[in-house]
Amino acid sequence: MSTDKSTNTVWHEVTVTRKDREKLNNHRSFLLWFTGLSGSGKSTLVHGVEEELHKRGLHTYALDGDNVRHGLCGDLGFSDRDRIENIRRIGEVSKLMVDAGVITLAAFISPFASDRQKVRNLMAPGDFIEIFCNSSLEKCEERDVKGLYKKARLGEIREFTGISSPYEIPKNPELIIDTGTKTAQECVTQIVTMIETRLALREWESNK
Ligand code: ADX
Repeated sequence: MSTDKSTNTVWHEVTVTRKDREKLNNHRSFLLWFTGLSGSGKSTLVHGVEEELHKRGLHTYALDGDNVRHGLCGDLGFSDRDRIENIRRIGEVSKLMVDAGVITLAAFISPFASDRQKVRNLMAPGDFIEIFCNSSLEKCEERDVKGLYKKARLGEIREFTGISSPYEIPKNPELIIDTGTKTAQECVTQIVTMIETRLALREWESNK
């Protein structure tokens, strides 16, 4: 799907900027992009990390594949084409959320490297933090929390990631989390520590 039908529109310059909103919030905004197989722990980590950030008084919002597909992306399936459009929409929504001054956490399989790169390109340098939830297919399938792998093996679900649809492993993610071997709490702590050090939230506060 393309966006080239919106002709005769003129960009309106805003008067309240992202910087203004960040100042009001007392912290900067950015996008944490969680990618990985179904059942690799993306949603669990997104919600666990969001809770920790929220407790610290930071403004957050979580976008979750399964939830977004109930609304905004309810018209999309799992063909390559639909997944590309799914990630394009989420990328645009994430950009708006970050512009709104919110620390945005996105949990999507996002199986194609080129789509993840497009979202990265949409964002300002340093605003896109790719977190690869690294759990082997065997482990995800063994857990099969939603029972979807079983259905996929039986051919009841077509184009299932890892079984009948590809997943391209991130080459240079900002963070790799071994969700297959670590506990959820260990993973959450690792991510929150990375956020605190890498993005130097406190440093930003003292520099503003
Ligand atoms: S993505 O590929 O477009 O990024 P997304 O993260 O939105 O996928 O949705 C993935 C979720 O949809 C999975 O966690 C799973 O619960 C469900 N799902 C249903 N059918 C499929 C399928 N064919 N492949 C992968 N996930 C599926």
